[in-house]
Amino acid sequence: FTSPKIAPSILSADFMNMERDVAEIEAGGASFVHVDVMDGHFVPNLTLGVPFVKQLEKVTNLPLDVHLMISNPIQQLPWFLECGPDMVSVHAEALDEPTGEFDRAIDMIHEAGAKACLALKPDMRASVVEPYIAKLDMVLVMSVYPGFSGQKFIEGTEKKVARVVEIARAAGVAPLIEVDGGLGVNDPTRAVAAAGCDVFVAGSACFGQADRAAAIAGIARTAAE
Ligand code: DX5
Ligand code: ZN
Repeated sequence: FTSPKIAPSILSADFMNMERDVAEIEAGGASFVHVDVMDGHFVPNLTLGVPFVKQLEKVTNLPLDVHLMISNPIQQLPWFLECGPDMVSVHAEALDEPTGEFDRAIDMIHEAGAKACLALKPDMRASVVEPYIAKLDMVLVMSVYPGFSGQKFIEGTEKKVARVVEIARAAGVAPLIEVDGGLGVNDPTRAVAAAGCDVFVAGSACFGQADRAAAIAGIARTAAE
């Protein structure tokens, strides 16, 4: 059993006071800063890009967990990797598997010295990770349709988490499992924790609270129940 890791999503932070907000979660026991990159194409929303990630890296000691919700990740990966992220998630839906893009994306991330993660939208089957599981450092299971914070957790996501854990076990590996969307001091957090989630993304449940340290502690406690 590893203690639950909380990754607050800065999508819900105050963009005009980002340095302050990130300092709060760093002091408050966050394990990662979850950075939601959206391009207005792969998902309906547009958030932040390379210049922002580059600056963010300079103002925090926390590892950056960069969640790329973008089309054409192969083309854009080098720019994001130059920012020095600790972990990068690319979406399976954005990659062309027949031409080997899954391997290419994972290898590019590793060559830059970062940890590689494959992210799955709610409708993507868990088994898509199977051929790559041994080289993945993390699998991100989306529990909402990506695009916005503050959405409701999709019931049953915990089953997909359990399935990914099963696939990893069968291969004799144990990548981190991250769940993103609708988590907080609530039953979804308990359900995905029981299924094997290690990293809990929290946007509104963290930055929507005045006391971010208390929010992080509350979610971690809920996950450990
Ligand atoms: C959704 C993003 C999430 C989001 C989480 O597309 O990937 O990281 O910010 O927000 P909450 O925790 O409020 O659901
Ligand atoms: Zn995210």
